[in-house]
Formats: sequence, structure tokens, C-alpha cells
Amino acid sequence: MSKRYNVAVVGASGAVGEELFRVLEEVDFPVANLLPLASARSVGEEIECQGNTYKIQELTEDVFRGKEIDIAFFSAGGSISEKYAKYAVESGAVVIDNTSHFRMNPDVPLVVPEVNPEDIEAWEETGIIANPNCSTIQMVQLLKPLHELYGIKRVDVSTYQAVSGAGKAGMEELVMQMQAFFNFTLDEAKVESFAHQIALNVIPHIDVPLENGYTKEEMKMVNETNKIMHSDFAVSATCVRVPVLRSHSESITITFEEGVNVDVEKARKALGDFENVVVIDDMSKNEYPMPIISTDTDETYVGRIRKDLYADNILHIWGVADQVRVGAATNAVRIAQKWIALEEGA
Ligand code: A2P
Repeated sequence: MSKRYNVAVVGASGAVGEELFRVLEEVDFPVANLLPLASARSVGEEIECQGNTYKIQELTEDVFRGKEIDIAFFSAGGSISEKYAKYAVESGAVVIDNTSHFRMNPDVPLVVPEVNPEDIEAWEETGIIANPNCSTIQMVQLLKPLHELYGIKRVDVSTYQAVSGAGKAGMEELVMQMQAFFNFTLDEAKVESFAHQIALNVIPHIDVPLENGYTKEEMKMVNETNKIMHSDFAVSATCVRVPVLRSHSESITITFEEGVNVDVEKARKALGDFENVVVIDDMSKNEYPMPIISTDTDETYVGRIRKDLYADNILHIWGVADQVRVGAATNAVRIAQKWIALEEGA
């Protein structure tokens, strides 16, 4: 029988944690034992996975000791990873970290398995593999085949990000505000997860503002994209929160090297041939990617593929993916699968 692995999930009660258990089950991940961890608030809550029931335990410095954890998924926020990832690594586990904490550390590989799986090899430097920002993951899956085709010079992206990016609390806040709207009490509804009311609104502000006029979320897209793609093209991002429960959408304008004359059919084929990318692009039938298509799936969808009206080397595309899955849980599990293949010499 092939090897099975002991798996810990930090943030087991959160939006990404819960999705991780679903994905592990769906891909029939070779789990030997599962250790779900969260704060003291969730201790004793039950997790079902692959026909077994596990109880959430409290995350502590000692909790990994003696448990022979092979793989520890962290998805409980950057400060938790900062404090506790080292204890998982010390106990012998590889940490697959879903927070931004380690992403730009030059010794930590930042991986989207369809784009730079070879970087996983460097995991032994620190024992940590970082999962990129959700908006970055779905964008680089579309940029990679186009970069190979024509060579990218510059990317301008505007995101339309779902409230799931702010975890369960963000999703609850949108639902509660919509309920309040129908009860004529929206003025009194709680505003905590976002800077403003998100129901019936659009907020051009995700994560903290920085001195250069961008937000931290926008700079994550800039910096992480070039780290993952081993490239140095220009990226400019505007990240926007929209009242959608799940799945981020992105309007992406790609400027290729001087002299390139983009062939839309070639670009469409390169995108369609890329692993886990699906082209939906037929305006005559009202067919294009939307959150209601991508939610609960593991693919990244692309459509509205069209050449710029003025410059031959510019292409516009529209990409959509489920942020909780493609942008977090599924990407993390795909990293773990590649890590296992590496460990087993496959
Ligand atoms: P808990 O539910 O016990 O607070 P989300 O991204 O959906 O907001 O979820 C965040 C996840 O991070 C939850 O599982 C949450 O557990 C966990 N978490 C938050 N703070 C801590 C902490 N101090 N120790 C361990 N887990 C934490």
C-alpha cells in the first residue's frame, strides 16, 4: 500500500479550513490521521473527512509534538503563522502556508503548481511553502501561457473580489446587511469586516493603504506575480471588494513586448490548453466567466478575450475563479500533492 500522511489543518473552523477538508476528500488525499486546530473558541467542534470524525484541538506551541505530522496547512492569519509555523516545522512537518507572512521571504518557495511546480524543491530551506494571494493565483494561471507565447511587458489588472476573501466573518456581514436591507434596517447593520457597508456597494480598498498610494493587497499582486513567474514585467493592480459571496473576477490588460502582433485565436488556444484553465468566450450566446459559474469548482475561467482597439501588442481578458478553492484550499492541496510526488521520487 502506498504511504499515507498525517495532516494538520490550522484554522480548521475557518472558511478556507473547512474547504480544505472538502478538497482533501474529493481528491482522495492519502490521509493517515488528521489534526484539526483552531483557537480555544472552537475546541471540541467536529470535522468530518473521508468518513472519519475528528475533534478540533487548540493550537498551542506543543500541539505538534509527538504527533508525527507530515503536512501542516496554515490558514488562520499571518500573525498565527508567524508565531506557530516554526513549531510545526520543528516537529518535522512541511508547512503549506496560506497567509501572506512568508510569501516574499526569498528562502520560501511561493507556488502555483500549474505555473512553477519546480520551485517546491526548495522547501527544505525553511520547511515552508507559501500559497500565494488568491487574486494572484488565478491571474498567473492566465498570464503564464500568454507569457510563453508572446513575452509580457506589462499587466494592468482591476479585481472584483468576493467577500469570502475576508473569511466567514466577511460572508456573514454581506448576508446580514442584505437581510437588514429587506427589513429596512440597513442603516443599523454592523460594518466591521470592510471599511464601509458592502451590501449594494463597491469598495476600492482591500487590505491596508500604503504610502505609495496602493494597498497592501495591490502590492501583493505586483510582487508575488514576478516571484512566481520568475519575471520582471510591470504590474499595476486596483483591488476592489464587490458584494459577491464567492469567486473573484479580474479584468486584465496585458501589454506584450514591442513588435508583437497578438493573434486572438492563438491566445485563446494557449489559454485553453493550459492546465486547469477553461475558456468560456462566446458573446453571441452571452457566454463568459462569472462567479456563479466558477463557485465550487477547481478551474480558472477566462473569456472576453479581445485585442486592443489601438495597439497590436495589447490583449484584454476577463478571468474568474473560486477564491476559497483555486485561490486557497485547492492550490494548497495541489502543492501538497506535488510535494508528495517529490518526496516519493515520482
Ligand atoms: P476560531 O474559529 O476558533 O476563531 P476565517 O478566515 O474564516 O475568519 O477563519 C479564521 C480561522 O483562524 C478560524 O479557524 C479561527 O479559529 C482561526 N484562528 C483565529 N485566531 C486563532 C488563534 N489565536 N489560534 C488558532 N486559530 C485561530
